[in-house]
Amino acid sequence: MSLDLVSETPTHTPETPTTARARAPLTPNSLRSIVRELAEQPEQWIHLVRLSTEERWYQRLVTGEDHEVWLISWLPGQSTGFHDHGGSRGAFTVALGELEELSLGGPDQGLLIRRVPAGTARAFGPDYVHDVRNTASGPAVTLHAYSPPLSSMAHYDLRAGGLVRTSEEGPEQW
Ligand SMILES: [Fe+2]
Repeated sequence: MSLDLVSETPTHTPETPTTARARAPLTPNSLRSIVRELAEQPEQWIHLVRLSTEERWYQRLVTGEDHEVWLISWLPGQSTGFHDHGGSRGAFTVALGELEELSLGGPDQGLLIRRVPAGTARAFGPDYVHDVRNTASGPAVTLHAYSPPLSSMAHYDLRAGGLVRTSEEGPEQW
């Protein structure tokens, strides 16, 4: 995966028609390479970053036929809650700061908590559910790639019996 994808990272790419989105999705590893390469080129995105006390701030950087890339900022305490990615594969990397990622896994499907410091990338398949939060004392900036581009996201509550789906949102809410 290519430098081509990253070098084609204009911030004003026109919306791709939905009819052109029928390509095979990129693999999680390819998506990880995309976010890693972009994180190493802060001149492409650093000037866009904003911070918001209302909610996580985010902006789409790349709208491609087979993937998209988002830039997100996180103030201390901001979090996603448990969510899926509507069947998209994904990857993210922490460019600045540090996050914590919660997921269910391990032998007993117990709660896994991972520190995700700057320079770390995570990649996941289409069924992955996680909660990402900034538990550090300073802001964080992250880059996220999804393939195919996100079409929906469901939210979940973690209860005694496991994850319970509570709501779903679509692109009109982003
Ligand atoms: Fe996510």
